[in-house]
Amino acid sequence: MDNRDLIKKALEAKKKAHVPYSNFRVGAALITDDGKVFTGCNIEISSYSPTICAERTAIFKAISEGHKKIKAIAVVGDSDFTYPCGVCRQVIREFGKDATIIVANSEDDYREHKLEDLLPYSFGPEDLENSRSEEDV
Ligand code: THU
Repeated sequence: MDNRDLIKKALEAKKKAHVPYSNFRVGAALITDDGKVFTGCNIEISSYSPTICAERTAIFKAISEGHKKIKAIAVVGDSDFTYPCGVCRQVIREFGKDATIIVANSEDDYREHKLEDLLPYSFGPEDLENSRSEEDV
């Protein structure tokens, strides 16, 4: 599965977006370290805050199926190069510290970033493992 294939999957997923309020469609497709592909779309809820982004739909599908390491994720949306929101960057960080993020307008027009570049100096699971709280007591 190369970048173009992953973008194609994201474009397919985007068609399923449930967006009665914003009318802004987003699709995502990720591949895990063990080669499984999961897709997602954004899903909007009338009370707004339960709305979920396409990226997190795809990620939570992967996690709930037991695939916890994101190798790459492709995102397509209705703007020129739709980038993952801050919350989604943090969620990608949790399961893909070294992940590649592909932000695409089409299969031929895309940019590739590392998560580290979109979320520098990030907080993550290791911070909790290396907690210094015991030194403080
Ligand atoms: N949205 C995503 O699905 N992913 C992003 O990275 C940016 C925003 C969705 C949330 C909402 O349904 C719509 O786009 C407008 O914010």
